[in-house]
Amino acid sequence: MTIVVYSSHTGSTRKYAEIFASRNGFSCYSNKDDYDPDEMIIYFGWLNGPRIDGLSSVNKQRLIAVVSVSLSDPPSFGWNKVKDTNGIVVPFYHLLGWIDRSKLHIHEKLFFYVLCAIMKLRGLDNHTKPLFDAMMEGGSFFDEKGLDQIQSLCN
Ligand SMILES: Cc1cc2nc3c(=O)[nH]c(=O)nc-3n(C[C@H](O)[C@H](O)[C@H](O)COP(=O)(O)O)c2cc1C
Repeated sequence: MTIVVYSSHTGSTRKYAEIFASRNGFSCYSNKDDYDPDEMIIYFGWLNGPRIDGLSSVNKQRLIAVVSVSLSDPPSFGWNKVKDTNGIVVPFYHLLGWIDRSKLHIHEKLFFYVLCAIMKLRGLDNHTKPLFDAMMEGGSFFDEKGLDQIQSLCN
């Protein structure tokens, strides 16, 4: 049996995982839930630097695919760095999520302020300005059409 497991900090990865699971009749679990580790897993995780949150705790032998959810595509360090850092050898997909600042910890808000200050000093362009605005004020790039690319896994 295949299940969907997700890790989500501000909600967008959870929403993608739930929509995908419901479309395909899969059960959907948070990585903190008590799911059966012997099931085959499609993992949805939010991107925290080059690390996909929670993925290290998943049995790699049970992984069918990994879906990362982030604010930028590609992130500044590139997708190969993410694949290497997380040891991903299965199909890998990326989706754009949202940032809900009310759910951020104080140190995460500070981190974003520092990052935004650096971005502003370097100069904002069409690519970085929406990212800057989302980090400063919150914002969403969520689009469930992004899930269509993953559908081929289930056909
Ligand atoms: C501490 C922290 C670090 C992050 N690092 C990155 C990053 O390196 N690249 C990126 O594109 N997004 C980064 N993000 C943005 C999240 O990946 C993005 O907001 C994602 O949609 C969050 O998913 P969630 O709503 O399920 O928590 C970071 C967010 C936080 C809070």
